[in-house]
Amino acid sequence: MQAHQVDDLDTAERLYREVLDLRVAQPDALHYLGVLCHQCGRSDEGVELIRTALQVTPKHPDAHNNLGNIHKECGRLREAEACYRKALECGPQHHNALSNLAVVLEAQERPQEAFEAYEKLLRQAPRYAQGHYLLGLFLRNHAQNLEHIEQSVARFREAYALEPRFVQALEALSVSLYVLGRTDEAVQVYRDWVAREPDNPIPRHMLAACGGAEAPQRAGDAYVRDIFDRFADSFDEQLLHNLDYRAPQVLVDVLGTVLPAPDAALDVLDAGCGTGLCAPLLRPYARRLVGVDLSGGMVEKARQRGGYDALDVAELTAYLQQPGAWDVVLSADTLVYFGELGTVLAAAHAALRPGGWLAFSLEAEEGEGDRVTLTASGRYRHSRAHVLHALERACFHDIRISEDSLRKEFGQPVRSWVVLARRGGDAGPASAT
Ligand SMILES: C[S@@+](CC[C@H](N)C(=O)[O-])C[C@H]1O[C@@H](n2cnc3c(N)ncnc32)[C@H](O)[C@@H]1O
Repeated sequence: MQAHQVDDLDTAERLYREVLDLRVAQPDALHYLGVLCHQCGRSDEGVELIRTALQVTPKHPDAHNNLGNIHKECGRLREAEACYRKALECGPQHHNALSNLAVVLEAQERPQEAFEAYEKLLRQAPRYAQGHYLLGLFLRNHAQNLEHIEQSVARFREAYALEPRFVQALEALSVSLYVLGRTDEAVQVYRDWVAREPDNPIPRHMLAACGGAEAPQRAGDAYVRDIFDRFADSFDEQLLHNLDYRAPQVLVDVLGTVLPAPDAALDVLDAGCGTGLCAPLLRPYARRLVGVDLSGGMVEKARQRGGYDALDVAELTAYLQQPGAWDVVLSADTLVYFGELGTVLAAAHAALRPGGWLAFSLEAEEGEGDRVTLTASGRYRHSRAHVLHALERACFHDIRISEDSLRKEFGQPVRSWVVLARRGGDAGPASAT
């Protein structure tokens, strides 16, 4: 278990198996080996092992809770809910199981039940910082009026007061303050944080995002890595269930209007692949499908999901320097971390074969002018004119920019651009129209 805790998974697995050679039904070894198998992408084996452990010790709340976590991370929310309820039957004070139950109820779009679970959690454990933080996020995600955002501020403040190293709570606090128009307070939260941790890329980027410092040309590598490594475990659940995220499907649909019928003939790059949500949608088109992302944590999740021929951990602009390699480059919700688009679009143009297609999504900045804004979320918004000019300067042809809503923020749809453009030259295999 010590090896497991320090992420030495090979040693931990070997030792758990040695224990099981000695005692075939040793429940802790079965249980923790199950958790480990899931971490290594062998979730079905993990489920079987924990189920076997539960036959030996059926009233073990941690084992029910961990089995629930595997189901949750595999998207089986009903099964996860049943496991958390079992964990709570066995250990009514199991805070972790109760907060997980609230999260899966929220993800199943049962906000009233989720709210009641969060309230019960905080009645039982008023000093549980994570519980205050999760309730704050819930209030903001489901806000029907500004009062709910005010309430989220109180929850984030409490979470941070209870656990001063809980920096996600600070970040969430400043976003809520910003949404309420209390920009000075939001900026002050980040200034204090930068003063305490001058080398931390998160408060530095977010200080700029709140207007307290000059915006960088794109989000720095360290910022992106930190944010997404941390976010990797809960990304799918947050985006798909709580934020109605649709960018992968919408972009692949729009590509489908210009590509030949899917017959596994194209070389496709998923640029900023994250946890690999685009892989199953792109696979039918791809002879070779490669994903690239700065965050090792996200790439690990993509590896577990499967579907790629190769995955690389790298910065996108640098990665695209390999010339003429792709028939299609798709980038879902990734260029929102770029302010200035010229460099990355020029690299994408050079990386495409003649006739190849680029598809990407952005958040939309209102108005006619050529503008880019770094917003309080830490992501950039681009005006239509800016996108068009950047694509033209990068020598793209057949530019199509349509408007859609690809996700929600604070309970509201976010206006987005769905962009398609083609590298000129000889018609490549990708250019059917
Ligand atoms: C919102 S996620 C989207 C992931 C995936 N495309 C999807 O649609 O589910 C944005 C991803 O872009 C990656 N990213 C941001 N800036 C990057 C850069 N400069 N180079 C490579 N990856 C980057 C992040 O690590 C993150 O995984």
